[in-house]
Amino acid sequence: MKKDISNRRDIELLVTAFYIKVKADEVLKNYFKKVDWDNHLQIMFNFWENAIFYTGTYSGNPMEAHRHVHMMMPLSEEGFARWLFLFNEAVNERYEGEKAELIKQRAYSIATVMQIKILQTTTE
Ligand code: HEM
Repeated sequence: MKKDISNRRDIELLVTAFYIKVKADEVLKNYFKKVDWDNHLQIMFNFWENAIFYTGTYSGNPMEAHRHVHMMMPLSEEGFARWLFLFNEAVNERYEGEKAELIKQRAYSIATVMQIKILQTTTE
């Protein structure tokens, strides 16, 4: 049986494994070409730690960040579907339990809202 996500170290391993997949993915890798990885990974560790352990470690604005990404290179339904697929895969490969379910649920709801808000705004 796999363990559940229980601390920041688990989040770090998960997020790192997820981005290894993203960097190898044909649909997603181009969005991340100019990313400063040291910086982005720290932000993402904080974001996900806060999302499931309520640590107050993240205070950014993901919607705004992705509006910016979308302006540079349009996001798409296919991209979001791919993102979610790889995120779920990264979770399932390592973890199971309450927090593992919670983090997948959070990813799904944020991705859904993000898609609605961002993909709607530029088509007209
Ligand atoms: C097609 C799907 C997505 C793509 C291509 C994408 C791409 C990116 C890129 C390029 C950045 C900026 C990195 C940088 O410049 O340092 C970023 C930041 C970020 N992404 Fe995504 N993203 C996607 C979906 C998501 C989803 C679904 C979530 C959350 C569930 C998410 C969470 C974040 C967060 C928290 C940041 C950091 C924002 C900040 O600077 O505070 N992303 N993303």
